[in-house]
Amino acid sequence: MAKPKVYVTRRIPDAGLDLLRKECEVEVSPHDRPLTRREFLDAIQGRDGVVCLLTDKVDAEAFEAAAGVKGFANFAVGFDNLDVPEATRRRIPLSNTPDVLTDATADMAWALLFAAARRVVESDGVNRSGSWKGWGPLQFIGGDVTGATLGIVGAGRIGAAMAAKSVGFRMKVLYTDARRNEALEKAVGARFVPFEELLAQSDFVSVHVPLMPETRHLFTYDTFRKMKKTAYLVNTARGPVLAEDDLVRALKDGLIAGAGLDVYEREPALAEGLASLPNVVITPHTASATVSSRNGMALKAAANVIAMVKGQKAPDCLNPEVYT
Ligand code: GLV
Repeated sequence: MAKPKVYVTRRIPDAGLDLLRKECEVEVSPHDRPLTRREFLDAIQGRDGVVCLLTDKVDAEAFEAAAGVKGFANFAVGFDNLDVPEATRRRIPLSNTPDVLTDATADMAWALLFAAARRVVESDGVNRSGSWKGWGPLQFIGGDVTGATLGIVGAGRIGAAMAAKSVGFRMKVLYTDARRNEALEKAVGARFVPFEELLAQSDFVSVHVPLMPETRHLFTYDTFRKMKKTAYLVNTARGPVLAEDDLVRALKDGLIAGAGLDVYEREPALAEGLASLPNVVITPHTASATVSSRNGMALKAAANVIAMVKGQKAPDCLNPEVYT
């Protein structure tokens, strides 16, 4: 019997491709870049399953192009690129890759927090340029981490992991979310507070909400105005949760002390002026880029699409209603 045909829109780690090839006829995009819209729509035609990326918009037009497809497995935990209601209406299963990147992403949030607070990139640059003239009492003074207040916006898997890692730094943890996370309250004594209180009291605000209509531009100039002038913002969630031009303006106006960002509103473009600010650390959407995390994502995406093409329930299905 012919193997099901699966398309992978960009090369993923071999762990996932090897698993896929055992059960499917696999074609991987030959380009080391996101596919253009046209390339994507052409490539997914006639496939039984697709492994797609957060840079692929999977919407009604894609479902039309991939007529007969048995599912799309997103190689990401975030799934704002997928039109879930439309897929459900068409009874097409979708999946993501939860859990395997929780710690890697929370670790990166910590890396950004420290790098911004302790001016790691800025001072490294001065040292590399040869312009450091030796130790000085007033050089590169940053913010204290130990004993500070950490505000977690979105206490799901990744936000809770970020909070849990604060214990060694004896931090006070505040959080806000659509619902209480009692396990987190028990584990680290985190306090559930209104958003405005979190903004006013936190020395570090770390963003972990998914991108949804309710969280788009959750942070605007007005939000930054409510934060401490000495506070730092960290975002490893999705860029459009912040109005990025407002963030640049807030940083220039001294409303907050600095920011550590891994995600951007118009990736791969950065808001004008962002890259020339000394008090931001900007990584290129690499929070899940560790060996075990990316291998785990590849294995999950493969396992999900294999289940889909076999007509079985995908382990990380986002719209299980399609199976009823
Ligand atoms: C990365 O941003 C992901 O959602 O996995």
